[in-house]
Amino acid sequence: MPDVKIAPSILSADFANLDAEVRDVLEGGADLLHLDVMDGHFVPNITFGPPVVKSLRRATDAVLDCHLMITEPTKYVESFVKAGADWVSIHVEAPDDIAAALKIIQDAGARPGIVLNPDTPVERAEPYLADVGLVLIMSVFPGFGGQSFIADVLDKVPALRALGYEGEISIDGGIAEETAPLAIAAGVDVMVAGTAVFGREDRAAAIRALRGSAA
Ligand code: DX5
Ligand code: ZN
Repeated sequence: MPDVKIAPSILSADFANLDAEVRDVLEGGADLLHLDVMDGHFVPNITFGPPVVKSLRRATDAVLDCHLMITEPTKYVESFVKAGADWVSIHVEAPDDIAAALKIIQDAGARPGIVLNPDTPVERAEPYLADVGLVLIMSVFPGFGGQSFIADVLDKVPALRALGYEGEISIDGGIAEETAPLAIAAGVDVMVAGTAVFGREDRAAAIRALRGSAA
């Protein structure tokens, strides 16, 4: 089984020193960067948009994994791909044309993904599974970093496989040293971690600890 990928969420980084922060986690062994985009409608918070993605694109060749917590993905996904996003994931709960948004992402040249809130069943993703390369399972309710891990959502990993889904599965929210082994045992391919990476002084040690290797 290939090693699980670690995707630090820059939500917990120092935004005034983003270049140094992303270099630090990538040199520390991160596999990709998770970018949490919040629009103040789909979730109560506002974070950042395409200009930040564009600047990060210039700073690194690492995969940029954009998690869009936005109400109108059809309106904005193309601008994220143009800014340099490699993966663009949208929430299945967004009151918009999900299939159309996924197609825009694909046609613009990025990998489309779908996100499920903790209380959204995998059946909601089923109509889109053939069109996505990533399913992001939320293990907290979106909107804030630093929340507690909801372990029940791990059942969605085998449930997605039972539906015939063969793409990557990522888990997002509350991943830390104590919860990462549960996610790894459930068979996730990617673990997103904000607080448990950027909140630590030694990011390389933090990433090793999430993988389950000795720090
Ligand atoms: C929550 C975000 C997560 C979050 C993870 O809305 O999607 O990516 O930043 O943060 P931690 O790892 O602190 O739970
Ligand atoms: Zn996220």
